Amino acid sequence: MTVVKNVCCIGAGYVGGPTCAVLAYKCPDIKVTIVDLSEARIAAWNSDHLPIYEPGLDEVVFACRDKNLFFSTNVDAAIQEADLIFVSVNTPTKKSGMGAGMAADLAYVESATRRIAEVAKSSKIVVEKSTVPCRTAQSMRTILEANSTPEIQFDILSNPEFLAEGTAIKDLLNPDRVLIGALQTESGIEAQNALVDVYTHWVPKERVITTNLWSSELSKLAANAMLAQRISSINALSAICEATGADVDEVAFACGKDTRLGSKFLKASVGFGGSCFQKDILNLVYLSKQLNLPEVAAYWEQVVIMNEYQKKRFVRNIISTLFNTITNKKIAVLGFAFKKDTGDTRESAAITLIKDFIQENARVAIYDPKVEAQQIYMDLSEPGVVDTQKQLEKNVQICQSAYEAADGADAVVIVTEWDEFRDDQLDYSKIYTGMNKPAFLFDGRLLVNAQKLRQIGFKVSVIGKNELAGTA
Ligand code: UDX
Ligand code: ADP
Repeated sequence: MTVVKNVCCIGAGYVGGPTCAVLAYKCPDIKVTIVDLSEARIAAWNSDHLPIYEPGLDEVVFACRDKNLFFSTNVDAAIQEADLIFVSVNTPTKKSGMGAGMAADLAYVESATRRIAEVAKSSKIVVEKSTVPCRTAQSMRTILEANSTPEIQFDILSNPEFLAEGTAIKDLLNPDRVLIGALQTESGIEAQNALVDVYTHWVPKERVITTNLWSSELSKLAANAMLAQRISSINALSAICEATGADVDEVAFACGKDTRLGSKFLKASVGFGGSCFQKDILNLVYLSKQLNLPEVAAYWEQVVIMNEYQKKRFVRNIISTLFNTITNKKIAVLGFAFKKDTGDTRESAAITLIKDFIQENARVAIYDPKVEAQQIYMDLSEPGVVDTQKQLEKNVQICQSAYEAADGADAVVIVTEWDEFRDDQLDYSKIYTGMNKPAFLFDGRLLVNAQKLRQIGFKVSVIGKNELAGTA
């Protein structure tokens, strides 16, 4: 029976970092080394200011760092030492070539896999942790097998991560399930059991699901596609609500009471973001097309199309409400992260909205409690533009508070549902006083009490709620 004593995680990002930090925290008998090519990232993991913001992460890392948890750029040494290696590198959507805009770019997975094959001096269990298209494990196996010898064997497992950012530590400590896929051969099953033993240090055994490799890979894409589909469904309904006077919160509540549907993930919004949903659905669409299943591809693609529509619809509403022009008007954007409690901005709806505002020649003032100014400039830059920050600074101001952003603004737009933007936390009367009149507020997150803000004097527009129905 294989017992895992030494774990290496390749990739110290949003997935690898928190996942393996929790593993070290819960398994004091296992040495965990998280490696990355980025020296800056590793230096940050070894400092007091961790490179990612995630509630509870500091406590976990500080409790076991330099005891059984290590961060290093020495990828080769960590590979050689480990019995089990998580591959947690990034798999962005391809920007060019075949499948551009849809297929995942597997260059990082491949280069990490090749590195393992090159430097390993003993047998390893290699675990695919990054979200990958189906059949990636097969490619990894081919690369590793081409390099294995009778003395060195590689077993490949698929162990997709289901954590959500902002609640990663909670999700990792108490997961709904852990999924481990393996080739159903003798050594595959032995490797699978070894990883089961790692997780059952803290996860009840009945929550650790074992499947074949392909089911595991597809389940991850399927779970994200279904979650995103729920959001696109409620967002599609939000458009009907605005046109009719139905209230999307009431509709979601009524539907969610059906135990078959459940109440979670029915919050209408300005559109889902994050590194996973769009990427995984597009992977599924690409896979379906490759499998010659065009109807299946079209079905899932509609979830992404609806998400884009929701963002555009929101912008259109803002422009038309502001008398059909936002040229030279100041728009205060509250929130830039793709959801609250994270500093991550990947695929954030804020990026699309603000780019549209800039196109319309508006002046945009942005405040987010966790996202750094540098990141915002990077996200808003267009390819090929020289001296982007200087160009952007003509239209974009990064602020230190919501009050600063809203000062002199024509409209406040709530894009991220940070608690500090709630009407019991932020002084909206103060905000109102500082704004141009009429003072417009657009709530893309159903976060504030519109009635209360209307009493202050705001003209409020909320996703999925008809303004007139609200004031009647
Ligand atoms: C998601 C999955 O939830 C997680 O299981 C997977 O491992 C990675 O992808 P994440 O993207 O981190 O996690 O966050 P999630 O909470 O799923 O939110 C994704 C987006 O959907 C955010 O922009 C969020 O604001 C939005 N959302 C979520 C809604 O608009 N409405 C909802 O009801 C829920
Ligand atoms: P995710 O959200 O999937 O964790 P991130 O981009 O946050 O994605 O993290 C992936 C990390 O993997 C990055 O820090 C990147 O530097 C690292 N990485 C990519 N390829 C390799 C490699 N071959 N060896 C080591 N680290 C790598």
